Order: sequence, then C-alpha cells, then structure tokens
Amino acid sequence: MNSSHVLYFRYLPMSVRVLFTMVLLTFGLAYLMAMIQVWESHAGKDGDPMLSGKDLMIAYSGNPDGTRLETALRGSMSDMLPDDKKKIVFDWLHDGAKAELIEGTIQPIINEHCVACHSPEANPHLPNLTTVEGIQAVAAQDTGMTIATLVRVSHIHLFSITFIFFIVGYIFTHAYVRPVWLKCVLIAAPFAVLITDVASWYLTKVWTGFAWVVIASGGVMGISFAAMWVISMWQLWFGRVPEAVSENEGRLPKLRLSTTRA
Ligand code: HEC
Repeated sequence: MNSSHVLYFRYLPMSVRVLFTMVLLTFGLAYLMAMIQVWESHAGKDGDPMLSGKDLMIAYSGNPDGTRLETALRGSMSDMLPDDKKKIVFDWLHDGAKAELIEGTIQPIINEHCVACHSPEANPHLPNLTTVEGIQAVAAQDTGMTIATLVRVSHIHLFSITFIFFIVGYIFTHAYVRPVWLKCVLIAAPFAVLITDVASWYLTKVWTGFAWVVIASGGVMGISFAAMWVISMWQLWFGRVPEAVSENEGRLPKLRLSTTRA
C-alpha cells in the first residue's frame, strides 16, 4: 500500500469537518485579539506610537536612559499631565531625582493628577504614588520586567501556545501539501520559534538586539499560523480534491522514500 492512514480533509466525516472549522474560526479570532493585546501593551513606550523594536527592548530589558515614571509619562500616561508639569517632572528626573525635592515640587503635581488612580484604595495593583517611597520606586532606573515576571509569563506562554499549535498542526496533517517537507516545516516552525522567542525575552536583558529575534519569531509564528489556517479552510470546503488522493480512496499518499511502485 502506498497510502498513509491519514484521510484528506474532504473524506473526513462531516461532523469532524465542522468541528475543525469551528476550532479554526475561534483560533483565528483569538490570534487577532492576541495581536491587538501585544500592540496595546507595548506600542508607544519609546514615545513613538508605532510598535517598534525599541518598545520591546524597553519592555523586557528596561530603558537605560529612563525610569518607569518617564517611560509611563511618555507612553500610556502621557495624557494625564499637561506639558508644563511634565517638564518639571522630567527636569527633576534628569537632575538625579533628588529626594529632598519630592515633597515640595513633585508630590503636589502627583497628588493633583495621579493619586485618583494611583493609591492603594483606588487600585492596589498600580504603583502607589501617595508616598515619597512610592514615587522614588517609579523614579528609579527602569530595569524592565523582572525575572520572576518573565518566568511566570513564559510558562503560561509555552503551555498555551504548544496547545494551540498542536491542535492547528493536527488539523493541518489532513491537508494535501507538496512538497511534504514544506508541510512539515509549517508544522514544526511555530514550536521552533516559540523557543527562540521565549529565550530572547531573557537574552534581551543581556543584549537588547535580541528584541529583533522576538519580533522575527513572532513573524514566523504568524506566517505559519496563517498558512496552516488558510490551507486547511480552503481544502476543508473548497479546492479540487487532488488526483493522488481520490485514486487512494481519500487517503493521503505516502512519501515514496525507497519503495517504488511496480
Ligand atoms: C485614570 C487613572 C489613572 C491616572 C489618573 C493615572 N494613571 Fe498611571 N496608570 C493607570 C493604569 C490603569 C496603569 C496600568 C496600565 C498601564 O501601564 O497603562 C498605570 C500605570 C502607571 C505606571 C506604571 C507603568 C509601568 O511601568 O508599569 C506609572 C509609572 C504611572 N501610571 C504613572 C502615573 C502618573 C505619574 C500619573 C499622573 C500624572 C498617572 N499615572 C495618572 C491609571 C492611571
């Protein structure tokens, strides 16, 4: 026999094809949401609203010429303060964030514009800016995500992405793609770049250039996902059944490695 056990999409029971389709639709939507989330949480950290390598460097390894306070006031918190008061805060930061100036100069500004949200009563998860110590904490040099945070995020990421690409890759095994090595590369690539992606989060702390590996890994993952998604959907419902498959009663032909047909 020159065919594997794996059936081509169209020869699967209708219920299985419907299941695969619904799973792909939901994952497609989830992928879109994930992209929006990445954008929302990282874009603009460097002051430019587009998502850039610099944004990721700042997120993972910190901003060597900045503080969390300055990064926030140039990014997500920039609307919270008028420009003249921002300048007072930046001048104070660039002049060494002197502790003795906090009470007289900085605290009144923060009390007026920030503590509505940044107090333990309003939101215990945000930096507390009601105290001098709280202000000093965000005025210290920005060292990016802590290793503890990275470990937490990476274990969730590794588990959940493996799960997604196992399901999408498994669905895709029913596709007819030639050459076969290309099919295998599309299945394997997301796992390979998942590892380079997560490793680069840590390595970005050592050398910020690894932010580009994070971006490239994300790109490769997205391309593999899109390719498997589109090919699976197309072959599930549209596309002509390949002759090699219909000759084989719907089973995908086996790679002819050494066996030659008589
Ligand atoms: C309307 C509520 C609100 C106000 C007012 C507000 N913030 Fe925030 N702030 C948030 C929220 C929500 C976050 C967390 C999400 C984010 O980083 O965008 C945050 C995050 C931050 C962070 C942490 C960023 C990081 O590194 O994780 C800093 C620093 C900060 N704000 C400073 C300020 C300062 C300074 C002001 C006043 C000029 C201010 N905020 C006013 C809601 C507020």
